[in-house]
Amino acid sequence: TPIAVFISGRGSNMVALMEACARPDFPAEIVLVLSNRADAAGLETASRAGIKTLCIPHKEYGKDREAHERALDEAVRASGAKLICLAGYMRVLTPWLVQQWQGRMINIHPSLLPAFPGLHTHEAALKAGAKEHGCTIHLVTDGVDEGPILAQAHVPVLPGDDADTLAARVLEQEHRLYPETLRRFIEGRQIS
Ligand code: GRF
Repeated sequence: TPIAVFISGRGSNMVALMEACARPDFPAEIVLVLSNRADAAGLETASRAGIKTLCIPHKEYGKDREAHERALDEAVRASGAKLICLAGYMRVLTPWLVQQWQGRMINIHPSLLPAFPGLHTHEAALKAGAKEHGCTIHLVTDGVDEGPILAQAHVPVLPGDDADTLAARVLEQEHRLYPETLRRFIEGRQIS
């Protein structure tokens, strides 16, 4: 199954997906990595690995979010991708794009949804005194971080944790959970 990965930054989840896709028995291949930011480090990582990358800066479209997303959509369709994986893509999508890819767009979020949607999830979990934290893979719907949950991984919040130590513990699980869930999703839905 050809997939497109959307990033805005570091791209460590993208790398986890790249590594999974490199295994001969993995049912997906990354045909496009797309970023809304030219300075996303993940772009360089992907192109060094021989993956097609594209930057479509949202800034060039001013306030017209849908115009930006029409450009994204066009690029994804041209790539032949059948599925979009958001991996640290830091923009809220319009209902238009969500509709185009309904049931075929997946996001990873660094909390145990429905707890702590939005940004700064690790700080929020610590502040709330959560005993447990983690990450969620879900289908993208109009509500931000609200779509049907495909999988979650739990980690403990440990005494002495700060946002960085907690984020690192969660990230390790993200890198395991995303490829695993993508495989199950593709095999279960028989997307090809
Ligand atoms: C991850 O924690 C992801 O869950 C969140 O943003 C972070 C992106 O990290 N949405 P990376 O770019 O995949 O390294």
